[in-house]
This record gives sequence, C-alpha cells and structure tokens, in this order.
Amino acid sequence: MVQTLDPEAAQRLLELKDRALSSTAEGVTISDCSLPNNPIIYANEGFERITGYSISDVVGRNCRFLQGAETDPETIEEIRRGIRENRETTVEILNYRKDGTPFWNRLSIDPVRDSKGRVTNFIGIQVDITQRRLAEEALQRTKDDLESANERMQRNLQAAVRVQQALLPRSDPNVPGVEFAWRLDPCTELAGDFLNCYRLGENLAGAYVLDVSGHGVAASLLSVTVSRMLSGTSRQSVLFDAAVTHDENMIVSPRRVAEKLNELFPFDPRTAQFFTLLYSLVDAKNRTLRYVSAGHLPPIRVPKRGEPATLASEGLPIGLFPDSAWEDRMVQLEVGDRVYLYTDGLVEAENLQGVEFGIDRLSELLASFRALPLDAGLDRVLQDVDAWTGPQPLEDDASILAFEMAD
Ligand SMILES: Cc1cc2nc3c(=O)[nH]c(=O)nc-3n(C[C@H](O)[C@H](O)[C@H](O)COP(=O)(O)O)c2cc1C
Repeated sequence: MVQTLDPEAAQRLLELKDRALSSTAEGVTISDCSLPNNPIIYANEGFERITGYSISDVVGRNCRFLQGAETDPETIEEIRRGIRENRETTVEILNYRKDGTPFWNRLSIDPVRDSKGRVTNFIGIQVDITQRRLAEEALQRTKDDLESANERMQRNLQAAVRVQQALLPRSDPNVPGVEFAWRLDPCTELAGDFLNCYRLGENLAGAYVLDVSGHGVAASLLSVTVSRMLSGTSRQSVLFDAAVTHDENMIVSPRRVAEKLNELFPFDPRTAQFFTLLYSLVDAKNRTLRYVSAGHLPPIRVPKRGEPATLASEGLPIGLFPDSAWEDRMVQLEVGDRVYLYTDGLVEAENLQGVEFGIDRLSELLASFRALPLDAGLDRVLQDVDAWTGPQPLEDDASILAFEMAD
C-alpha cells in the first residue's frame, strides 16, 4: 500500500513503529540476504532481553550463534530449507543465551519482498517458550511415571490373580459317589468370591462358596485368608477339631465351622468387611448333605426328575456380630440329585432394564440343562447370565459350585 504522508507525519509514524518494536516482549530481528552470510541488520530490545546479547553484539552476524551443543540439527535444516525456498518457517529450537544458559525459542522467519516481489530481507520473531516446554516435559515425565506405575500395578495384580487361581480346586476331590464341578467368574481381576471342594474322608467331601463384601483387591485379600482357614489339608484349618490329625472323626460340624470363623474374623470398623458362606459336608455313602448357611443364598437342588427347589438357608453373615449362632441343616439326597451353591453376583446380575437374573430363573435354567453333563451345564449358566446382562460387564463376582450324587 502506498502511503502519501507529509514528511512530519511519516517521521512520526516511523518513530511510533520503532517504539512499538522496542516495547514488544517478543524478539524481532531483520536480516539482509543480499549480504554474504545473511547477517542481522536490526534487533529490538525484546531480543536483547530474551538472549542477553546487546544489539551491537548481533548486528552484522548470522543468528546461528544462538545455537549450541544440544540444538537439534534437523530443526536447523528445516530453517535452512525455509530460507532457501523463501517461505515462512516456524520452529521450536533450543538456543543459548549470552551467559550460556539454554532456552526454548519459538522462532518464526518470514521473507520480506521489495516492490518487485524480490526477497531482500527476512524478519525473525523470537518468543521465549522455556516455561511452557519445561511444563510440557514435566507433564510428560509424570505421564511416563504414571504409565510405568500402572504397568507395575497391572503386573502385580496379574501375579495376585495367578496366586488366587492356584488356590481354586484343580481336580475333582475324587470321592466315589459324588461328582463336582465349579466356575468362578471375577468381575474385576481379583475376586472377593471363593469356592472349594475337597476330600475329607473315604466317603466324605467338603464344599463351600464364600462371598466377601465388596470386590477387588481388599475383598480378595480376605477371601484368600478365609480360604486358608477352610483348607482341607492345612493344620490351621477350622474344619478339624484337633490340629494334629485330619481323621474323619475330628471333622467338626458345619455350624461349628461358622462359629470358629466368626471368632477368627470379628468385625473391624477400619475395613468394615464381612462375608457370607455356605459350607457343606457331602456324605457320598449315606447320600446326606449337612451344611450351614451364614447369610448366604439358598442352595438349589435339582433332582433327576421333578422340580428344582431351594434348600433352607438362614443365618447371619460371618464377622458382623460376636455372638451370632448358626444351625446345621441336614438333607437326604437321592441318586442323580444335583445341588448348586452360588454367589449373589450370579443371581443379582441385571439386564439393561435393571431386572435381576434371580434365583427362580437360575433354578429353571439348571433344571432345563439337567440332561447336560454337570460341568458343561455350568458353562451354559455363565453364558445365559452373560447374555442376560448384555454388553454391560458383571458388577460383582459370580461363582457357582455343583455336585451330583452318582450311583
Ligand atoms: C531473521 C532471522 C532470524 C533468525 N533467528 C534465529 C534465532 O533466533 N535462533 C536460531 O537458532 N536461528 C535463527 N535464525 C536462523 C539462522 O540464522 C540460520 O538461518 C540457520 O541456522 C540455518 O542456516 P545455517 O545452516 O546457515 O546455519 C534466524 C535467521 C534469520 C534469517
């Protein structure tokens, strides 16, 4: 644009431009590319403030003196290419002040053309972005630290899952006349549910399902601890009256197991944890089931023929009150009877409308799968519950343990 100003006004405008350039916080430099080495012919006070070099230090020199040991050669190459091709270039480059301290420079270089369109000069704008870069680097470091902490945590969790899985029964307890099957489906990696079945004598098997309040790490810590106390082999186990022998006669009644656990795991307000348990003794010879329910859901009995039914189940959870008492229940079973112990994660699984799967639906399902082998039937149960909840994941651990009285 051609300006027609009287000489005084033109002078005032020049002075204003000069003052504006001096007062801006950014560095402004102008080079003359008609001279060898494209030297700086103008630098403002902002440039002095940012770099520590005085104007007389820089005029006549190429600005590359700001670069140093850690400056990225690729960024320098990018600037070189931009200047060679006469186009606008913006980079973030590590430069060094006169006192040697490094700073991050957001540098924009623009060609300046004369009236014929020839590039005669370049104008460079320098902005000190050190604080932003340091903040970004600190953020990146925090992110990296968080990622590695998360990876460590995941590895630890996976290791804990393996420990917990290793405690699950590995094979059928091998008591003639009764066959077992089980599934444990944790909603997070670590389950607050636990189950086990084991041989306690020639004709006797023990089986239980327990569910610690809550889920995840805290619940799984307690469920693993309790499972050790319910071990079929450990000397500390609450299943036996004398710690020295696992003689069949020394096996305590289910009611006593609940009481002993209640003494061992009193309510602690710091953790507010408690658990429900269905512990049972299956006598394969007499086909009797003796069990105790501590706040647990009723077992479901599915006969070979006829309707499924829930078994009586009253009793308080373990760890809530110091003087709770429990009762043993005894059921006479028939050949072909199947009995299912399970946790609330299974029957309280909700569909998209918020309707629970429920004990009735589970009972019907178990009866409809009666023709399937015991083990395969459990897969179908988990599939059906999964289909019921749809895409939403289970909100609680789901476990099921089954046994069948054989001929
Ligand atoms: C006007 C202008 C300002 C410049 N300002 C800087 C600067 O602040 N920091 C920097 O590292 N390089 C700056 N440069 C770039 C260097 O002067 C030089 O062009 C770059 O290092 C690439 O060329 P070379 O390979 O000859 O060094 C500027 C260049 C021009 C033309």
